[in-house]
Amino acid sequence: MKNINGFKKLKSEGKKISMVTCYDYWSAQIIDESDIDAVLVGDSVAMVMHGFDTTINVSVEMMVTHTSAVRRGLKKKFLITDLPFLAHKRGKERLVDSVDAIFKAGAEAIKIEGANGVLDDIKYLVTSGIPVMGHLGLTPQSVHKLGGFSVQGESNSDAQIIIDEAKRLEDSGVFALVLEMLPSEISKTITESLSIPTIGIGAGKYTSGQILVMQDMLGLIKEFNPKFLKKYFNGYGGIKLALNDYNYEVKENIFPSDKESYK
Ligand code: KIV
Repeated sequence: MKNINGFKKLKSEGKKISMVTCYDYWSAQIIDESDIDAVLVGDSVAMVMHGFDTTINVSVEMMVTHTSAVRRGLKKKFLITDLPFLAHKRGKERLVDSVDAIFKAGAEAIKIEGANGVLDDIKYLVTSGIPVMGHLGLTPQSVHKLGGFSVQGESNSDAQIIIDEAKRLEDSGVFALVLEMLPSEISKTITESLSIPTIGIGAGKYTSGQILVMQDMLGLIKEFNPKFLKKYFNGYGGIKLALNDYNYEVKENIFPSDKESYK
């Protein structure tokens, strides 16, 4: 899809929305040629590409760098970028500067985690012409408050809080809502109660769409095996095999052969 209206359209047609994360130019080119609907430059870049333990280490500058790399490869798809940890807590002017820089890098929407304490900022951005995607359930920027990366909304009272927050986010103007690590029945209730689409990750099959971190679904991260993840490719094994084949051929003087050499 090319713009925000695609989300509404797919939901109203009862069609599922597919999303992946992307952080770089070359994989953006592949995604652009695929059937995937939309792309997120997630702050998971901190963990996946930079090796940090959490997403807290992401800065606006990092998101700008990765967004502009993705945008150079992604010509045909809608691009959303995460607002980094605490970027909305430094006053409206800093918030506007951060969103401005991320948009100038090529994003077409911003994703903001949570509801409590950010609804005013979301309303302010939406009325300023910035499409905002919400994010509830496991909100990784709050990992220390939540006590880890675990399933949320398991008790009735926690589930009710998330259901209420989802409604408040919709009322604040978000165009779609990511639901992360929630029991399927809770995301079903939320999806049925909202007119905006929900995009799930570890939130079961009833959401309006799904998102996965591309490196996870390509099986590139050997030690990451949560229940919700399906690996569509043995990226880790395949890449290791190719590296070892190359190493062998270099050592055995097989590569380069005449075919790979200039006359
Ligand atoms: O940062 C990220 O990759 C995300 C998705 C997992 C939704 O927020």
